[in-house]
Amino acid sequence: MSGGVGVGRVLGIAAAKRARLFCYLLPCSLILIFVAAHSRMSGGGGGGGMLPMCLPQTKVGFLKMHKCASSTVQNILFRYGEAHDLNFVLPSKNNYLGKEVPFNRTQIADVPWSGIGYDIFAVHTVWNFAEVQALLGPAATFISIVRDPVDLFESLYTYARWDQLFKMSLYRFARAVSLNTTRSQDFLTVGAGYSGHNQMLHDFGLPEKDSYSVAKVRKKIADIEQEFDLVMVAEDLDASLVLLSETLCWPLEAMVALPVNVRFPQYKQPLDEQTRALLRDWLWADQMLYQHFKRLFHRRKHEFGEVRLHEAMQRLRKLNHAAREMCGVSETNFDNSNGVFRPSNNLVKGYEVNHVTDCINMARSELSYIDILRNKQVEKAKNV
Ligand SMILES: *[C@@H]1O[C@H](CO)[C@@H](O)[C@H](O)[C@H]1NC(C)=O
Ligand SMILES: *[C@@H]1O[C@H](CO)[C@@H](O)[C@H](O)[C@H]1NC(C)=O
Repeated sequence: MSGGVGVGRVLGIAAAKRARLFCYLLPCSLILIFVAAHSRMSGGGGGGGMLPMCLPQTKVGFLKMHKCASSTVQNILFRYGEAHDLNFVLPSKNNYLGKEVPFNRTQIADVPWSGIGYDIFAVHTVWNFAEVQALLGPAATFISIVRDPVDLFESLYTYARWDQLFKMSLYRFARAVSLNTTRSQDFLTVGAGYSGHNQMLHDFGLPEKDSYSVAKVRKKIADIEQEFDLVMVAEDLDASLVLLSETLCWPLEAMVALPVNVRFPQYKQPLDEQTRALLRDWLWADQMLYQHFKRLFHRRKHEFGEVRLHEAMQRLRKLNHAAREMCGVSETNFDNSNGVFRPSNNLVKGYEVNHVTDCINMARSELSYIDILRNKQVEKAKNV
């Protein structure tokens, strides 16, 4: 389903304008159906200052991948959704939907807002495409993000304090699992809540046992390519957000964000090449996934156009810079922050900002934002 080159560009700005003008004069439904049918392929959302030639997507399924800048993307979706009065698929408590088991609709059957209808899925889950699609409808846009599996694993290892849990450094862990693969099982059952081993395929819903079969991993990768409209790359976040803006047909302004849930540099472990190589071997299945989607991502960038992409990225950086200035952003840590700004643990950055709603929401922690959305949906449900 990855977007092809711009039918929208062929239609041209004039045609898009005309369609909008008609919209004021005629019942819109027919025109909107036509535009919607083409919107996935049309460019414009991310382009610098061009008129959008597409309709903003309001049905979005985002697989929030662990340790892949996905809290930043989630915050973007939360703010846009809140501003446009969209409804979120949320658990009645915490921030997970299906932690050990794949998501299914019975997991949210009892939420107080079950009757309001859903637009956006953006919480951590074990992905189940059919079940998410059943909630959002067939026209939903599906997105996710991947990252180098070795860096992801290092991040997880540090963040989850596995050095304490396993009583060994990541350096030793890499040697332990590569010398004795059955030991992985010991670690993974202890690793509570995370898979750790091939975390990305796990989050995409591949059962652990299937992650040892090349054929099953290949099939899963092919399925993901079919199901997802855009798989972003965490190392290339600005370009990712430009392409996200295009894919969703949301203005680039909607992609302004602070890096949320990012570690302080002193808590990142530099790994030597040999350790990286051992881990990469051990994580071969996630490595296959990452290689595949990195390749597709490069193709998407190329289709978008190098110059246009570069301009849009520059524009996004300027917008981010301006937002930081306007919000008076400063970094803080767990111990010095509380309430809505408190980060998830003391390894990651928190922010202080001016007390302006837009600024607060940009710096708001995931748990705090989910609480707000939940409360809104409880209120909404009373009026349904
Ligand atoms: C749906 O999820 C629930 C709770 O996690 C689980 O008990 C049930 O077996 C699942 N149903 C299906 C059809 O997978
Ligand atoms: C591999 O690890 C398992 C589980 O910890 C252990 O029982 C087994 O003896 C180990 N094998 C070797 C060759 O070290």
